[in-house]
Amino acid sequence: MKRATSGWVTGDRFWNRTHEMELFLDYLRDGTNLLLTGQRRIGKTSLLREAARRLDGEFICLQVDLQGAESSQDAVAELSAATHSYTPLWERVKSWASGLTERVSEMSIHEIKVVLRAALTEGDWREKGDRLFSVLAESKQPVAVFFDELPILVNRLLKGEDYTITPQRRRQADQFLSWLRQNCQRYQGRVRVVVTGSIGLEPIVRQAGLSATVNHLKSFELPPWDRETAAGCLRALASEYALPITEAVIDAMLDEVGVFIPHHVQVFFENVHETYRLRKLTAITASTVKYVYKHKMLGARGHAELSHLEERLKMVLGVHLQGLAIELLTEAAVAGHLSGDGAVYLAKDYLDPYDPSILREILDILDHDGYLERRGDRYTFASKLQRDWWKSRFQFLYQPLSERRRPR
Ligand SMILES: Nc1ncnc2c1ncn2[C@@H]1O[C@H](COP(=O)(O)OP(=O)(O)OP(=O)(O)O)[C@@H](O)[C@H]1O
Ligand SMILES: [Mg+2]
Repeated sequence: MKRATSGWVTGDRFWNRTHEMELFLDYLRDGTNLLLTGQRRIGKTSLLREAARRLDGEFICLQVDLQGAESSQDAVAELSAATHSYTPLWERVKSWASGLTERVSEMSIHEIKVVLRAALTEGDWREKGDRLFSVLAESKQPVAVFFDELPILVNRLLKGEDYTITPQRRRQADQFLSWLRQNCQRYQGRVRVVVTGSIGLEPIVRQAGLSATVNHLKSFELPPWDRETAAGCLRALASEYALPITEAVIDAMLDEVGVFIPHHVQVFFENVHETYRLRKLTAITASTVKYVYKHKMLGARGHAELSHLEERLKMVLGVHLQGLAIELLTEAAVAGHLSGDGAVYLAKDYLDPYDPSILREILDILDHDGYLERRGDRYTFASKLQRDWWKSRFQFLYQPLSERRRPR
């Protein structure tokens, strides 16, 4: 197995997921429309890419990344452009965009997207989008559409630059999601759709009262690896890169990580490997593992990962509420848990006027997107590594609630 710590992985970089993949492919063959959920960096995009690789010849899998899309038109343009490598589909799709016909064979995919975007207007994207779906439905080979980062687009449609839901923005998001839903239903069994992204779709649509527009998608959750799978991945990587690690070292690494998010396992391996090479070690011991965890995993590289988490939080909550979310997470990291009382105390301190529904919304997002998990009446970090990262970044200047004087 080859290592990889950035981007999605397929083929000899893709480890395990045997049962999830089997079930996922069965759903696609059945024509089920899915909402693929899971924590950040769990391998959602990789599952889609690897599924497409395995379905080659049986299905046409269109990969549509909506990370950069800003409007419904952009989404339809991205979906149109995704047909580009499938001649029978592309021949029909390209006909509606003037400007594509003559010199399209000389154009890069980037240029094609620019022309497609320009050819769609606010007035006609739905009609053209419907036509596009009808082309997909008539394809000889069944079609699967994988919409990655669709929640980012919906979040943008809903909240704009200032993170505020207005009636007009809500209408836009509603129109887009309803258009998708109608086409999924119209072509049930002929076109199947999978939606996923690095932020959860459900809390976002719930914020806007639009949950009904996504209830045609069956939830499919990708869990963290179990301990044996994570250990197997470390063994396979160690053997590929001739790294002398023992079972005791593997155990020590897994204990530090806590929850086996594939990306965290990979980054840990990479850091141990790098330390072994750079320091010209002859053996790897439990103390090497401790050193790497403390100085590399929680060091600068860990913080790069963390700023990505923060950025996603800001995207969902906006600048203002992100501050409260950071406080809630910091309390959970520093004190080891966040109690209901503690959450209310922090929210009252932060929100003026205090609104319990906002606190509930934030906790809902932190729970849904895998930062915190609820155990009885308290929340704790789902992942030990993420808790340690968070603590090392935010505990400086943070006064835990147990040390504050509570108002009577
Ligand atoms: N099946 C796998 N085998 C090996 N490594 C994996 C696997 N799945 C994920 N990874 C690791 O996790 C990283 C992130 O994978 P991927 O981008 O697919 O996750 P994601 O859930 O889509 O992340 P995000 O939440 O950021 O969108 C990869 O670069 C790789 O290091
Ligand atoms: Mg992804």
